[in-house]
Amino acid sequence: MITNNDEKQNIETDLKHLVIITGASRGIGKAYADYYRSKENTTVMGICHSNKPELIQLDLLDEPAVNNFILQLDINQFEDIVYMHAVGIDKFEPDTKPHIDLDGDGIDDEIYATNVTAFLNMAEPLIEKTRQNKKPITVVNIGSISDIYEVPYWQSFSRSKNIVRRYLKSIIAQNVKSIILNVSSTLDENNNKYGRIKADITYWQSAKELVAKSIGVLDGMGNLDSNYLEIDFYKHNPNFRQDYFTNLPKLFLNWQRDMGFVGKEIPSGIRI
Ligand SMILES: NC(=O)c1ccc[n+]([C@@H]2O[C@H](COP(=O)([O-])OP(=O)(O)OC[C@H]3O[C@@H](n4cnc5c(N)ncnc54)[C@H](OP(=O)(O)O)[C@@H]3O)[C@@H](O)[C@H]2O)c1
Repeated sequence: MITNNDEKQNIETDLKHLVIITGASRGIGKAYADYYRSKENTTVMGICHSNKPELIQLDLLDEPAVNNFILQLDINQFEDIVYMHAVGIDKFEPDTKPHIDLDGDGIDDEIYATNVTAFLNMAEPLIEKTRQNKKPITVVNIGSISDIYEVPYWQSFSRSKNIVRRYLKSIIAQNVKSIILNVSSTLDENNNKYGRIKADITYWQSAKELVAKSIGVLDGMGNLDSNYLEIDFYKHNPNFRQDYFTNLPKLFLNWQRDMGFVGKEIPSGIRI
């Protein structure tokens, strides 16, 4: 005999979830996409810029193309939606100034485009669609544990993420939750260190480790009585000192060494 409880349980396990991940071809986005693909009743839409098997090719900076993607998206078959933006470059700014700044806003144009414009192009129409269709959505963005310090050598990145933070706080609603995962240096599947070619990676976390640490929080967001959350995820480094991000002369020397420029000038605009 099927009881009410059995029926309720069946309905709950049959609920379909949609997870949209931008930047799913590598690094953090790929690691989360791999995890969500292993979950039952979960449809993963992984998006990237290039043409890759199993992924949707979409240029997030092409606003009409992103609007069209959202227009075609049928969210009614899903119980809830997670949207994760795992796109956004960072560059070292040795003179504390943006490498490229055609609009003169003090933020590097490429950093702003990938971290802010690309994110908003997708988030705004998607959130509007979930509002119209009365579907719950959790919007996930990935910041840095250093953002609160606004380190001048990557000020474009921190300022871009702080714009995203303000936006995420502003959009919370009955159906909208948002979370920022603040991470330390995180390696992709190829242990890519970008410009910090000489860095000691003993205490860097892998994207897979980040997923393992954070997934309990992400999966529990629906039950949380709070619509905005930020959590730091890093590998504990016993050598980390309180002044790491605030002692700027020391930090500069550390990064100069990590980037292989000891005693030399660091060129502007190196990706980190
Ligand atoms: N890794 C870290 O240490 C670290 C630290 C702090 C914060 N974060 C944040 O974590 C997130 C992921 O970082 P990540 O280093 O793993 O990834 P990433 O290198 O910034 O992003 C790579 C992904 O973004 C896609 N992409 C780039 N431009 C695009 C566009 N215009 N349209 C569509 N897709 C585009 C790439 O697609 P293609 O492969 O097709 O080019 C690729 O899938 C970012 O938001 C970053 O700011 C990372």
